[in-house]
Amino acid sequence: MWAANVADDRERGAKLFDGMCATCHGIGATGGSAPPLNRPKLERAATDDAFRVILTQGIPERGMTRVGQLNDNEQRQIIAYVRSLGATAPAPVRGDPTKGVEIYRRLGCATCHIINGQGGAAGPELSSIGQQRGSAYLRQSVLDPAATLPLGFSGGSVAAAGFTRYLPVRVVTTQGREVRGYRANEDTFTLQVRELDGALHSFRKADLKQIERLTGTSLMPELVKQLAPAELDDLIAYLARLGTSP
Ligand code: HEC
Ligand code: HEC
Repeated sequence: MWAANVADDRERGAKLFDGMCATCHGIGATGGSAPPLNRPKLERAATDDAFRVILTQGIPERGMTRVGQLNDNEQRQIIAYVRSLGATAPAPVRGDPTKGVEIYRRLGCATCHIINGQGGAAGPELSSIGQQRGSAYLRQSVLDPAATLPLGFSGGSVAAAGFTRYLPVRVVTTQGREVRGYRANEDTFTLQVRELDGALHSFRKADLKQIERLTGTSLMPELVKQLAPAELDDLIAYLARLGTSP
C-alpha cells in the first residue's frame, strides 16, 4: 500500500516536473540552462523543507522564478520524483578538470570572467557556474555563445524576468557618437550600455538617434574552436565542477 503510494507520487511528480521545470532543468532533470537535479546532494535543497522553500519562493536572484502555485501534495510529489533521480548513480563526467584549468588559463578566459575573485568583469562571473548550469548548456555556451545568452532580471524587477542579459547593442546618439557594448539595463525611457572594458554609459532614449539590438550575436569570442575534442571535454569538466561540492 505504502510502496504503491510512493511510486504514484514519483509518477505524478515526473509529470509535474516535465511540465513546469524541464524547460530550464531538462527532461529527466539532466540539466539545461539550470543545473541538473539528478544528483545525490542538492546544495540548496539539502532538506525537504529547504526544497519546499525553493518551490514556494523560487531563487529569483539566481534566475529561478517562482514556479506557479503548487499545493502540498504537488510539492511532495515533485520532491519525491527529484529525490528518486538522485538515488541512482550519476553519469560519469567526461574530461579531466585539472587539465581544464590549464586550458582556461591558456585561452585567456579570465580576461572577461571572474572565478573566485580573479579575472575581468566583462562577462558573467563563473565562480559557481557548475551549480547554475548543466554541462550540455556549458558546452553550448562556449561553442556557440550567441545561442545561450543568459536570462536574468532587469533592475531586480520580477516584471522583467526573462530579460536577456549581455545582449550586444550598438547605439548612435543624436550628436552622432557611436557606442558598442552589451545592454546592461533597459526600461521604457532609458538604456544602459556596458563596453567590454567595463565602461558604463547611460542614455535617455530620447537622446539616441539609433538603437540596434544585435540579436543572435554574442560579445564572447569563439576561442574554443582551436581545441581538440578531448581538451574541450577537460574545459567543460572544469567549468561543471565550479561551485559544486567535491
Ligand atoms: C526559469 C528557469 C527555471 C525553472 C522553470 C525552474 N528552475 Fe529550478 N533553478 C533554476 C536555476 C537557474 C537554478 C540555480 C540557482 C543557483 O544558481 O543556485 C535552479 C535551482 C534549483 C534547485 C536547487 C539545486 C541545488 O543545487 O541545490 C532546485 C531544487 C530546483 N531548482 C528545483 C526546481 C523545480 C522542482 C522546478 C519546477 C517546479 C524548477 N526548479 C523550475 C532555474 C529554474
Ligand atoms: C572578450 C570577453 C570574453 C572572453 C575572452 C570569454 N568570454 Fe565567456 N562570456 C563573455 C560574455 C560577454 C558572456 C555573456 C554573453 C554570452 O553568453 O554570450 C559570456 C558567457 C560565458 C558563459 C555562459 C555563462 C552563462 O551564465 O550563461 C560561459 C560558460 C563562458 N562565457 C565561458 C568562457 C570560457 C571557458 C572562456 C575561454 C575559452 C571565455 N568564456 C572567454 C565574454 C567573454
